Amino acid sequence: MRWDYTQPVEIRFGEGRVDELPALASERGWKRGLLVAAPHVVKSGLAAKLEASGCVAGTYANISPNPDVSEVDACANQLAQGDFNFVVAIGGGSAIDLAKAASATCGVEGSVRDYLGTGRPLPDTRLSLVAVPTTAGTGSEVTSVAVISDRERGTKAPIVADSLFPEVAVVDPQLTWSVPPQVTASTGIDVLCHAIEGYWSLGHQPICDALAVHAARIVFTYLPRAVRDGTDHEARERLCEASVIAGLAFALPKTTSSHACSFPLTRRYGIPHGEACGLTLDYFCRLNASADDGRVKDLAHALGFTSPKVLADGIAWLRTAVGLRGDLTSLNLTSEDIDWLVQESHHPNLLNNPVPVTDEALYRLYRGLASGSTCSDL
Ligand SMILES: NC(=O)c1ccc[n+]([C@@H]2O[C@H](COP(=O)([O-])OP(=O)(O)OC[C@H]3O[C@@H](n4cnc5c(N)ncnc54)[C@H](O)[C@@H]3O)[C@@H](O)[C@H]2O)c1
Ligand SMILES: [Zn+2]
Repeated sequence: MRWDYTQPVEIRFGEGRVDELPALASERGWKRGLLVAAPHVVKSGLAAKLEASGCVAGTYANISPNPDVSEVDACANQLAQGDFNFVVAIGGGSAIDLAKAASATCGVEGSVRDYLGTGRPLPDTRLSLVAVPTTAGTGSEVTSVAVISDRERGTKAPIVADSLFPEVAVVDPQLTWSVPPQVTASTGIDVLCHAIEGYWSLGHQPICDALAVHAARIVFTYLPRAVRDGTDHEARERLCEASVIAGLAFALPKTTSSHACSFPLTRRYGIPHGEACGLTLDYFCRLNASADDGRVKDLAHALGFTSPKVLADGIAWLRTAVGLRGDLTSLNLTSEDIDWLVQESHHPNLLNNPVPVTDEALYRLYRGLASGSTCSDL
C-alpha cells in the first residue's frame, strides 16, 4: 500500500484560546484583518470585542446556513475594496467555508460561481486565513474544502483546492457552549459521518484510520450528553476534539455516499447538513459491509460493535437518542421526488464509496426513507 500524509494547518486547541487572536495576528505581521462572523458572533459581542482590540478592522456578517455564491461574492468585494490582507472566520462551517471561498477569489475578477462545479482551478494565492469553529461539526478549519450553494441555479457543491487550507485553526470549546440542542445533534452526527466515511472511503490510509476511530468513539460517548445538557463542558470539549480530528480523518481520504446524498436533501428540503448526512449513514454501513476489503467489519470492531450490522443499529440508535429524524415520511415524497433524489445523488463523492452505489441501491434507500420502513434486511 502507498500513501502520503500532509497536514498544513497549525492547530491551537483549548478553552479561552480565542483570546489569542490579536497576538496571533501581530506575531505573523498581519496588518488589516476582516472578521467573517456568523450572526451569533455579532450578537454575543465577540465581533465588537475583536474590532475594539484592533485585531480586525471590519466585519462581514451576512451569512446564511449553506452559504450562497452571492454572499461569497459580497464578502470578496468587501475584502478587495477595503484593502484587507488577512481574514478571521468565526462561526460554523457556513461562515468558515464562505471565508475560505471569499479569501481565495477576492483578488480576481468575476464570481465564485466560475469555480463551482466547473473544474476551473482557483487562483493559487489567497489572503491568510484563521478559522475559528463555533460548532463541533464540519472540521472545515482543517480541510481544503468549501461547500457553497448557488440558490439561483439550485446547486450545492464543494470546491476543493490546496489553497483553501486555513493557515491556523483556533479551536476553543467555549465557543460551542451556546449551540442549541438541535444544532448540537446535527453537527455531532456530521462528525461521525466524517470519521466513518473517511475510514471506509476508497481514499483511506492508516493515519486517517486511526484519527477516524478516535473521533467516532468520542461521538458515541459524548454526543448524547452534550445534546441533553449544553452546559456539560467536558462533553463540549470532547466533541470539539472529535470534530477537528474527524476533519483530519476525512481531509485527505474525502467523504463518500452519505455526503453525496446529503447535498440534494439539503438543497431541496432544507435538511441541515449533518442531519442529512446522518439519515443515510446506517444504510451505507449495511451496504458497505459487503466490500471485499472487510474494512467495515474492522471499523465496527474498533468501535466496540460486534459486526457492521450492529454498528448500523448503533448509528440509528444514536440518531434517535439525539432527536434527529430517521426517515423522510413527513415530506410525503412522490415517485418523481425519489427519481430526482436518485439522480442528484450521483455526486463525485459517491465514487469514493467502497462498494459501487447503483441506482437500484439508491431507490431502495430513498423508498425506505420515504415510507419509514427500515432497511435492516440488507
Ligand atoms: N468545508 C468542509 O470541509 C465541510 C465539511 C462538512 C460540511 N460543510 C458545510 O458546512 C455547512 C454546515 O456547517 P455547520 O454544520 O457548522 O452549521 P452552520 O455553520 O450552518 O450553523 C448552523 C446554525 O447554527 C448557528 N450557530 C453556529 N454556531 C453557533 C453557536 N456557537 N451558538 C449559537 N448558534 C450557532 C449558525 O449561525 C447557524 O444558524 C454546510 O454548508 C456544509 O455543507 C463543510
Ligand atoms: Zn459534513
